[in-house]
Amino acid sequence: MILINGQPDNRIPVTDRGLQYGDGLFETLAFRQGKLEYLAAHLQRMAKGCERLNISFSDKDKLEFELATLCAQTAEDSVIKIMLTRGSGGRGYKAPTDAEPLRIISSHPMPDYPQSCQQGITVRLCQHRLGINPGLAGIKHLNRLEQVLARSEWDDDNIREGLMLDVKDRLVEGTMSNLFLVHQGQLITPTLTENGISGIMRAAVIKSAAELAIPVKEKDLTLADLELADEVFLTNSLIGIWPVTELDGSDCYWEHGELTRHLQSELKTTER
Ligand SMILES: Cc1ncc(COP(=O)(O)O)c(C=O)c1O
Repeated sequence: MILINGQPDNRIPVTDRGLQYGDGLFETLAFRQGKLEYLAAHLQRMAKGCERLNISFSDKDKLEFELATLCAQTAEDSVIKIMLTRGSGGRGYKAPTDAEPLRIISSHPMPDYPQSCQQGITVRLCQHRLGINPGLAGIKHLNRLEQVLARSEWDDDNIREGLMLDVKDRLVEGTMSNLFLVHQGQLITPTLTENGISGIMRAAVIKSAAELAIPVKEKDLTLADLELADEVFLTNSLIGIWPVTELDGSDCYWEHGELTRHLQSELKTTER
């Protein structure tokens, strides 16, 4: 089901700036057991993105109402996607000052990842590099060509995710996930001030770690840090935590270790 500005529809104007320029934001949420998980956090990130892109988020209440409508008609656990574009108009790239943002919300089947992903996945290292863009770092804007190109690099279902370096050789994240390393009892995750998406699940993991008195550090990471890690895992709103146990084409292997297990079970019990 799709709602566009609250109405069941599946068409948007070809003049929409989200289509023309990627001028907008999106969120991907898990709807499980009748609950939109981490809804407040997703809306907060969208609000931050709106601020950064100078898109009005004055229709937040309408969006919440529409989400409730959509969810009321969604019986099964599903993925709910929100897109908010600047709307239509303007001259070329120049955005109109009075644009009316377009809200698109849709429900989709949950991807049926094998249960084994919770015990460990194989990842690969992508060739495509992330650029540097502090102005867009952290937010979930609609321009995802870097991820599209990286994800087109492999077609092997046994490889569940690709890790991405940036043009400065820093290990930033997966194509659809955030990265954590465990090293000597400490949790380390890349700084996301120059690129990457500041994940909702990443924030939930950092919060859980703090509650469990596990030290967390944000810093620039390289492939050497990955090789030295005791445990590696990836996060996003749909997968939760996926331990990484193998880097394809290398002799790097990691355990589905104690700290990762601890965080996985902790997240299961926390309010989402
Ligand atoms: C590039 C990228 N990084 C990180 C994430 C994780 O974000 P979240 O935890 O909010 O789902 C995603 C999720 O789709 C992503 O596409």
